[in-house]
Amino acid sequence: MAFPTNLKQLFNRAPKKNNWAGLIEAYRPWLPVTKKTPVISLYEGATPLLPVKSISDRIGNGVQVYVKYDGLNPTGSFKDRGMTMAISKAKEAGCEAVICASTGNTSASAAAYARKGGMKAFVIIPDGYVAQGKLAQALVYGAEILSIKGNFDTALDIVRELSEKYPITLVNSVNPFRLQGQKTAAFEIIENLGNAPDWLCIPMGNAGNISAYWMGFQEYFSANKSKKLPKMMGFQASGSAPLVIGKTVEEPETIATAIRIGNPVNKEKALLVKNSSNGKFLSVTDSEIINAYKILGKEEGIFCEPASASSVAGLLKLKDEVPKNSKIVCVLTGNGLKDPECAINNNDSIFHSGLNPDINSIAKTMGF
Ligand code: F0G
Repeated sequence: MAFPTNLKQLFNRAPKKNNWAGLIEAYRPWLPVTKKTPVISLYEGATPLLPVKSISDRIGNGVQVYVKYDGLNPTGSFKDRGMTMAISKAKEAGCEAVICASTGNTSASAAAYARKGGMKAFVIIPDGYVAQGKLAQALVYGAEILSIKGNFDTALDIVRELSEKYPITLVNSVNPFRLQGQKTAAFEIIENLGNAPDWLCIPMGNAGNISAYWMGFQEYFSANKSKKLPKMMGFQASGSAPLVIGKTVEEPETIATAIRIGNPVNKEKALLVKNSSNGKFLSVTDSEIINAYKILGKEEGIFCEPASASSVAGLLKLKDEVPKNSKIVCVLTGNGLKDPECAINNNDSIFHSGLNPDINSIAKTMGF
């Protein structure tokens, strides 16, 4: 077909008007909002569910693997789903400032939504353990950052106490509105697949997201919008896997700094999810995480952050247990651009630097 040369033709070829206005508008009947709730939204949600052939092929047996690419939310992570709810409800309650502890993504999201809603945002982060992109976001969105000599778990204890003593709203996943917003990702998956998947593979830090997904799957199941419930498969990094080993990890360590958490606040909820869904929790090593991270990047064109790749790493580790012809969804919680340092230090690409700007020597370097 010839390329249209006049504007009218071009206009006619444009896709249908996209009237997506964020997940609160899309799922209003399913959420604790009223007409009076001021909706603070950056049009989050409606993220793609992508088939990933390279992973399906590695599993074999007719298994179809998809990724829910939630790193394509406005601030680059799934946190935006919860934050539109938490911040809208905080605004409704007349609150003027919010606070969170964060390994980075929550702080970026809280800052963006709070500022959009005209509120102050305070974020407490572990000194030296927040990926560059996330820190950059919190700064640009206008948060006030308090970096402590301590890990995420300590930061969370502090913000919980501060929010009890002072007039400031806590927007970590202990805030129930966060999970309400996050459950919408399960709705989208069911709408895309026409049913719930057989397995839902997901990284766990504080285990808020796995609990939110389960709530979403259950609500659609009860309303007959899906005919089955998935097994919930939760993955943690082996250096910080309290939910797998069954006890608090005092000094959690992993390349996946987003989930460098030793004492998850939602642990009771998560264990309930595992038991009632017949699911499984497993740990994956940093090198298994990086292996999955690289496969997604160079074979699928999908750049996620290391914490997110743990869902795919976990699935690959459980290869022999995956039921034949099943449908599996792995959640990619955050965008790869969040952590450029990890990308630069962990790839198999060739980088020729310091070349002379000379065509012959460049061609030679290229192997011609
Ligand atoms: N993936 C990413 C990219 C995250 O940032 C987080 C949590 C998780 C997974 C785990 O989700 O805590 O609900 O189990 N990040 C929090 C933060 C801790 O501060 O940004 P969870």
